[in-house]
Amino acid sequence: MGRQISGFNGGLMGILNELGFSTREKSFIYDEMQEERETDLKTYMHSMNVGKIMLNIAETFGLDKKIAIASGLLHDNGKMDISRDVLYKSDNFNKDDWYEMHKHPGYSYNRIRKTLPIIAEIAVRHHSEQGLKSYPKNLSDSSGKVLGFAISPYVTAIVLADFYEAITSENRTGDGRYDHVTGIKECMKFSHPKLKQEVNKLYENRVFAA
Ligand SMILES: [Fe+2]
Ligand SMILES: [Fe+2]
Repeated sequence: MGRQISGFNGGLMGILNELGFSTREKSFIYDEMQEERETDLKTYMHSMNVGKIMLNIAETFGLDKKIAIASGLLHDNGKMDISRDVLYKSDNFNKDDWYEMHKHPGYSYNRIRKTLPIIAEIAVRHHSEQGLKSYPKNLSDSSGKVLGFAISPYVTAIVLADFYEAITSENRTGDGRYDHVTGIKECMKFSHPKLKQEVNKLYENRVFAA
């Protein structure tokens, strides 16, 4: 199934206005998204979708919508700092390529931290919660407050939104890891064993449907 962008009514700037972002925050998010669209259309489409899913998760879990959507939109913007040779490679990834790709959450952090420091802390953790597959490895514990803010529910949300978008938009389960798991829902739970309750709640509330 090909990837489709879930639109925001009134466009990206419309939703950013509606949610009350400051002018500086809006320009930053908008400019990052424009650059991503020009550099890496696939990641741009993925990020727009993750932003939309994050808004829906925010409604279900009672989270701050601005923090949720900004985390969704910006989480992968560090991919723009990965070498084009690696970024545009579609298959036959070798160990060195993966090593390079695994730097993207750190690059996202670096891009975001000056304008939206809390979002940076959430974005850098979007590949955490995946057991031994988690990266980067040197993250501080996020169960308490980070920069005076309880980021943990947002980290859970971005981890699940990111994974769900990836496996429903493209057949990313095809790397063999989940071959024994039937269906997207089971795959979500299998790959995030500590987040089964949250996965169930998101299906009950129809945030996830596939
Ligand atoms: Fe990512
Ligand atoms: Fe992502």
